[in-house]
Amino acid sequence: MSTLRIGCFLAAIGIAAAGGGALVQSAPAIAAKLQNPLESDEHAPPAGAKLYARECASCHGVNREGRRNAPSLNRPAVQAAAPGTLFWVLRNGSLHRGMPSFAHLPEAQRWQIVTYLRGR
Ligand code: HEC
Repeated sequence: MSTLRIGCFLAAIGIAAAGGGALVQSAPAIAAKLQNPLESDEHAPPAGAKLYARECASCHGVNREGRRNAPSLNRPAVQAAAPGTLFWVLRNGSLHRGMPSFAHLPEAQRWQIVTYLRGR
């Protein structure tokens, strides 16, 4: 194998190890089609903020800025994600990479968190 080919091989492994980017980008496209039933519920953002503080801040930071063990949720890939995609992430987590599943929370609470994350 030439040095060049080994270099390409290592670069490919590097990309694969990064998971091709954000977890939100690994959600199936169909997840994005799910509508947030609480999108325009004025109580959803404050309720979601409370849930976030309780369930998520320890890993993702009080202001979603991310911490050593978990990515920022303010980054563009997450902010651009559809509500249904975020809902999918909360349902499934990423267990082998340290993101728990929140399937045990009632669906309404998960949508409240999604509403809060999207800042609307
Ligand atoms: C125990 C630590 C932990 C907790 C608690 C946690 N997360 Fe995560 N979260 C992670 C890790 C680690 C990742 C990165 C997983 C990956 O890259 O596969 C992640 C990824 C995510 C992503 C995808 C980010 C991206 O860049 O694609 C979202 C969205 C997310 N978490 C939201 C939440 C929300 C909302 C909560 C609370 C309901 C929460 N997380 C609770 C550790 C945590």
